[in-house]
Amino acid sequence: MKNGRIAGTGSYVPETIWKNEDLEKMVETSDAWIRERTGIGARHIAGEETVAQMAVKAARRALENAGICSTELDLILVGTSSSESIFPNTACLVQDEIGAFRAACLDVSAACTGFLAVYELGQLYIRSGKAKNVLLIGADALSRLVDWNDRSTCVLFGDGAGAVLLGEGDSLQSIHLTAKGDPQVLCIPQPPSNSPFDILPPQQPFLQMNGKEVYKFAVSAFCSDVTEVCSQAGIQPQQLDWLIPHQANLRIIESALHKLKLPSQRCLTGIQRLGNTSAASIPIVLDEANTKGLLHPGDWIALSAFGAGLTTGACVLRW
Ligand code: UT7
Repeated sequence: MKNGRIAGTGSYVPETIWKNEDLEKMVETSDAWIRERTGIGARHIAGEETVAQMAVKAARRALENAGICSTELDLILVGTSSSESIFPNTACLVQDEIGAFRAACLDVSAACTGFLAVYELGQLYIRSGKAKNVLLIGADALSRLVDWNDRSTCVLFGDGAGAVLLGEGDSLQSIHLTAKGDPQVLCIPQPPSNSPFDILPPQQPFLQMNGKEVYKFAVSAFCSDVTEVCSQAGIQPQQLDWLIPHQANLRIIESALHKLKLPSQRCLTGIQRLGNTSAASIPIVLDEANTKGLLHPGDWIALSAFGAGLTTGACVLRW
């Protein structure tokens, strides 16, 4: 069975860095509170860059790393919740910039689980024989969608993009996605329309989150997902060489590691420097590890994500 092989990775974060100390001047918060409750010390902010522009930069790096030309791409899948246009989708904007004229292009909306969602879909295309080279991207700029007067959410997020070139091969051992539909616990309403027919009550188009509920859900889903995909792959979680989780809160990660009996040295994180970059968080950290030469052939690697929806996803692959 050919489930696809990660042939290249790339990532991009905007140059502007916003430290916790900078946020202290904007809302009533402190570096100590943010570090203690989340592990975050800084985040990158997109400013004038669009999600598509960040995605293009990550995509070019992944293609270069894989040694693949954009014209060889059969499919571009982008996991994002923050593209600047409803249509065209971000995947089409990436295609236009990189000249991937043969590729079909789709965006997938699964919030912070976006990268796992495009991974699952991409590997199905490869397995079916319909695609040989699939570009998977997770890209988000939630800094544009948070309420900068709400200290409970604006301190959490950062912007960035990560990309993976999925080629032919067989490195994926197991993958699964779940959803537990919940309209309220974590949402971003659409901006109000000016339609005379629209009688829906207007809502503030900012990210709204019940942090405690998401926290509880995240720890439990993270552990059960990793246990499930490890079991499907025929290994114990303790046999993992690397775990790359969604980077939402260091305390969520530490608590899950404790329950999974996995030492923290085998977990890769970037939240301290990057904040929560939503769908980009896993592919950015994966690319950083690949670039540093941490991943060796045969390593067992698990990816695990959770986010609004509520959605979750996890997989086990061999590098
Ligand atoms: O990728 C998307 C998924 N999202 C997540 O996974 C987020 C999951 N949730 C969390 O990470 C945590 O719930 C938060 C980091 C969002 C919040 O941490 P918490 O330990 O649950 O804090 P809390 O909401 O219970 O707030 C504790 C106190 C409150 O004050 P009182 O009521 O105790 O006086 C808040 O008003 O901390 C206050 N607070 C802050 N203080 C300083 C909330 N935000 C801040 C802040 N700075 N930025």
